[in-house]
Amino acid sequence: MIVLDKEHKLFTLHTQNTTYQMKADAYGVLLHTYYGPRVRGGDLSCLLQYTDRSFSPNPNAAGTCRTYSLDVLPREYAASGGGDFRIPSLEVEGPDGSHTASLRFAEAQVRPGKYALEGLPAFFGTEAEADTLVITLEDAALQLQVELFYGVFEAHDLITRAVRVVNRGEGTVRLRQAASLCLDLPGGDWDLITFDGRHVMERCPSRAPLRPGVQSVGSVRGTSSHQHNPFAILCGRDAGEEHGLCYGAMLLYSGNFQAAAERSQFESSRLVLGIHPYHFCWTLDPGASFTTPEAALVCSSQGFGAMSRRFHRAIRSNLLRDPYGDRRKPVLVNSWEATYFDFDADKLVELAAASAPLGVELFVLDDGWFGARDSDSSGLGDWTVNERKLPGGLEALVTRIQALGMSFGLWVEPEMVNEDSELYRAHPDWALSVPGRGPSRGRAQLVLDFSRKEVRDHIYAALKRVLSSADVSYVKWDMNRSLTDVWSAALAPERQGEVYHRYVLGVYEMLERLRQDFPNLLIEGCSGGGGRFDGGMLYYTPQIWCSDNTDAVDRLRIQYGTSFGYPPCTMGAHVSATPNEQTGRTASLETRGAVAMSGTFGYEMDLGKSSPEERETIRKQVEFFKKHHHLLQTGDYYRLTSPFQEGPYTAWAHVSPDGREALVNLVTGSTHAALPFTSLRLQGLDPNLDYRVNGGKLWPGDVLLTAGYPIPLFLGDYQTFQLYLEAVDASSPAF
Ligand code: DGJ
Repeated sequence: MIVLDKEHKLFTLHTQNTTYQMKADAYGVLLHTYYGPRVRGGDLSCLLQYTDRSFSPNPNAAGTCRTYSLDVLPREYAASGGGDFRIPSLEVEGPDGSHTASLRFAEAQVRPGKYALEGLPAFFGTEAEADTLVITLEDAALQLQVELFYGVFEAHDLITRAVRVVNRGEGTVRLRQAASLCLDLPGGDWDLITFDGRHVMERCPSRAPLRPGVQSVGSVRGTSSHQHNPFAILCGRDAGEEHGLCYGAMLLYSGNFQAAAERSQFESSRLVLGIHPYHFCWTLDPGASFTTPEAALVCSSQGFGAMSRRFHRAIRSNLLRDPYGDRRKPVLVNSWEATYFDFDADKLVELAAASAPLGVELFVLDDGWFGARDSDSSGLGDWTVNERKLPGGLEALVTRIQALGMSFGLWVEPEMVNEDSELYRAHPDWALSVPGRGPSRGRAQLVLDFSRKEVRDHIYAALKRVLSSADVSYVKWDMNRSLTDVWSAALAPERQGEVYHRYVLGVYEMLERLRQDFPNLLIEGCSGGGGRFDGGMLYYTPQIWCSDNTDAVDRLRIQYGTSFGYPPCTMGAHVSATPNEQTGRTASLETRGAVAMSGTFGYEMDLGKSSPEERETIRKQVEFFKKHHHLLQTGDYYRLTSPFQEGPYTAWAHVSPDGREALVNLVTGSTHAALPFTSLRLQGLDPNLDYRVNGGKLWPGDVLLTAGYPIPLFLGDYQTFQLYLEAVDASSPAF
């Protein structure tokens, strides 16, 4: 609900459990007065205090008043240069070279439903689900208009933000920074949690108290990156999984980003999230506008678990555009770790034939099917089927796969080119590179300049031809290097600061075209695993290959970290061969299955090499997944223990939204003798119901929630233990 008090210029956003408030003060400055657990409302600017602070200047409009300074007030969207020395949201270079803007309130408007952003990913919502508030600020001297968009999803406790800057003046201005979100909070004693890592070990949570000054993470790699994620949490020092105040902030963006937090001199804190200012400079000619990516906020006073579940629900129902909707997606087998580049049609059909009888429904042909692609140093850019490997083209192969009762999926990497390719030989200038310098290579490939329409059009036409040549129901869109040598032949020198962002817009445009032309196609995102796992990509690709690391035990960490912002149904996860190819670790098939089932679930191995016993286990595993997929894909997710903390096991649960059904998973670490007895305390159940556990005894919900369920001692290394709980209505006594 949005309460617009025009008379007092007071704007209050209520969600079910939270309240967010802003007020334009006597000088027209938009102050941020409150964000936290829901309160009744009223004018919360009474919380603000004013005093004369040395070295904190007073804006010209305040005359001789020395107690009013932008340097100490909580701001909603702060432009640089006017005496607020904290991280700016907006830095504008005026036609005269100045870097000062003074944004003052102009008007506010409420609209039914959720706003959309042209060419950019954004949460969507009907009038019944969301409302929009648009607050317009203006800088009179520059004639610059800044529109702040707020989307309020009451039931999800989610507030989205985006900003549009319009040049209404007669001169050209340049944006040096345009953040999507600024959040000023009282107090300095917060912890900042970011999700960091590297290729094959993405999104590991890292928590540290805010120290005085600015601390930040971000990416300047052109993608959101394996190294940091555009999702961060500010939380109370005591906040944990089930208690404490926390604020999650997510940027729906797949390129360079920065998440910066500042603890100020007077113990207030600011979080700014948006496109990274590195090499960003956007020229706004008279009449032109720039729209930032969207950011989304969730506040929870019941810890990280509730925060994550709010993000999960909102993402599932109002961000993912999944052609399957709530229907179960097919269980897949992917050829990559089974064959790498070494295959022909017969080998692929053999792989599929070994998988189909086990209940696997979709065969995905990964890298190596096109051009002269026999290794990763050639062929990228040539999107025509390699008929030496696949005689008769895709259609012939797909016919054979479909005859086995399976559907067919295909890997592509449209943003890239190998120098050893027909495409590069014909258009060497289509790759990003700086004139006079040889471009850096990454995995022996260069990056195509997707900021250019003719490049995108060419690649798109080739992809469309391939995808139309056979019945392809799934595409894995991969991207395997960071951007370097970012310079576009299509832009003037003063516009080169736009290339990174235009590249991302180009990727989004291609994906949108694909969605429009092939509405039933399931697209899985990928960037060397989880190098572009973000809310922006999820809008186009409702699932993303979570990591190139398929080791089940490492995946516990990766999927745990990823789950803080993103729901399990978005995490690409497969059972792969053991010993694992990335770690050399041996884990049981049951463990690998339980971990992969907490994601999209599939296999990435030659199932023909499995023993009869293993095949029987796999058959049962697939059956189990199909039976419980509603819990795994749409249930609420509970992190019961952390894989980053010392302890005998990692546990998590998927609980139906009504709390009547749950699947609890537990994976042990490396074991020891004489372990102490432990019980696993569950979450999300109804304390007043009794639950039948694994079809056996009845256990009272309140006991499972408080005392927990006793865990057997002798499980061994990396073993799994699953509990399926179902509430019973009968009045049969528990135990
Ligand atoms: C990187 C991906 O993450 C892998 O799953 C696989 O598709 C390879 N690329 C293929 O080159």
